[in-house]
Amino acid sequence: MPTDAPALSQINNISRVLLSEEQINTRLNELSAEINAAYAGREIIVIAIINGAVVFVADIIRQLNIPLRLDCIRASSYRQSTSPEQAPAITTRIHLNIEGANVLLIDDILDTGNTLAAVSKMLQGMNPASLKTCVLLDKKARRAVEFEADFVGFEIPDEFVVGYGLDFAEHYRQLPFIGVLKHDHQRI
Ligand code: IMP
Ligand code: MG
Repeated sequence: MPTDAPALSQINNISRVLLSEEQINTRLNELSAEINAAYAGREIIVIAIINGAVVFVADIIRQLNIPLRLDCIRASSYRQSTSPEQAPAITTRIHLNIEGANVLLIDDILDTGNTLAAVSKMLQGMNPASLKTCVLLDKKARRAVEFEADFVGFEIPDEFVVGYGLDFAEHYRQLPFIGVLKHDHQRI
């Protein structure tokens, strides 16, 4: 772990590194190749679920060689805690017209599935030509609704993770790796 990182106090709240910067980069190369192959010869609209997906989306779109346009949507399922609410609130709507477009919806993590299920349903209602989903992390053990992503970076165990865009109460997003948050720091 870098000792000269600016957020040393954040690093002290991590019990272990689950995915290193290097592991993430290696997997991103493979994942972007999968996406490039799936959409070869087509254009896509990438929709990022913010804030969590910002770091992942910024990295992955720079490895895509297909033409794309980017839009963002805001959905919040966690309000200052580590337990999800049932129905996520979609608080920011997209600006692009996705009717007839190939849409790739990207989130940081697939947990209970409530967020991606709700956002996918909303986007399907806008009649895209196709809708696929991509997540960096998949916590299969926590699924509450039937939902699987088309592109998955890593399957991870049922632990609360932060870093590389993932937060606890908006903290830790800047960490370049993904780490497990210590239990005594999972409270405000
Ligand atoms: P779902 O609706 O339960 O699938 O949760 C998806 C959202 O919950 C993601 O967009 C994340 O913002 C958040 N989330 C789920 N698990 C974690 C975690 O381990 N760390 C940080 N955020 C998480
Ligand atoms: Mg979040």
